[in-house]
Amino acid sequence: MTDRYCVFGHPIGHSKSPAIHAAFAAELGEAIDYTAIEAPLDDFAGAWHDFVAAGGRGANVTVPFKEDAFRLCEVLSPRARRAGAVNTLILGGNGQTYGDTTDGVGLVRDLERHGVTLAGARLLVLGAGGAVRGVLEPLLTAAPASLVVANRTAEKAERLAADFRDLGEIRGGGFDEVTGPFDVVINGTSASLANELPPLPDDLFAAGATAYDMMYGAEPTVFLQWAGERGARGVDGLGMLVEQAAESFFQWRGRRPDTTPVLEALRRAL
Ligand code: ATR
Repeated sequence: MTDRYCVFGHPIGHSKSPAIHAAFAAELGEAIDYTAIEAPLDDFAGAWHDFVAAGGRGANVTVPFKEDAFRLCEVLSPRARRAGAVNTLILGGNGQTYGDTTDGVGLVRDLERHGVTLAGARLLVLGAGGAVRGVLEPLLTAAPASLVVANRTAEKAERLAADFRDLGEIRGGGFDEVTGPFDVVINGTSASLANELPPLPDDLFAAGATAYDMMYGAEPTVFLQWAGERGARGVDGLGMLVEQAAESFFQWRGRRPDTTPVLEALRRAL
């Protein structure tokens, strides 16, 4: 039987994951079946166990189930434990469910692909929700000189920074406490969804700085437009989406797809 994988979400209709994983599988000659499943909001664990009973070997997990997925795992990767969330479920040979989160490595790989050197860089991360918590471990592991987390609700950023302080030089606070310059500024707020911009000082960017928005769309987000007007190079989150998928694929199949053709095809289709 063909190995089955899926992405769980609610809603899930617009997910790009089935197309991405189908492209990876075709590229590598791996026979897999990957579908999108809308799990019920009140029984994520049931949806996963039903999927396993029907031959499921692994899954991606998206909004709003990443914390539910975290809770059902019998074994967690260290980075998933830090994130408190799981975007990749893997069925172990012993029937146990293993959980990982690949969003952070996806972000770091995409930054590297754009030629951004994180080691020694001054980093600013905007936002303190689940999306940001999920990427802090790989960002700090890349050895930046410093990392500031800034959030509309300052206390959330302070608490988040405290949870990661053992991994590197990290501070948290409100937007009004932000003083540049920074080499890399990552927008992990959901403000772009509402076409809003976090209130930020004009002199945020160092020469040659990169502004990264975890969101993406056919047009640059308001954050990337704002950053571009202030001299920063803008990168959206489409590459992060493809890179996190590639890392999940690797966890399941032990093989790494070339992400460039898939990313180019998605970009053309936006
Ligand atoms: P996610 O899983 O995407 O991280 P979340 O946990 O709801 O979602 O977090 C959303 C993040 O975007 C938070 O940091 C939120 O700020 P608050 O903690 O102050 O709520 C931030 N956010 C949402 N809308 C925003 C806006 N218009 N301006 C600035 N920050 C915003």
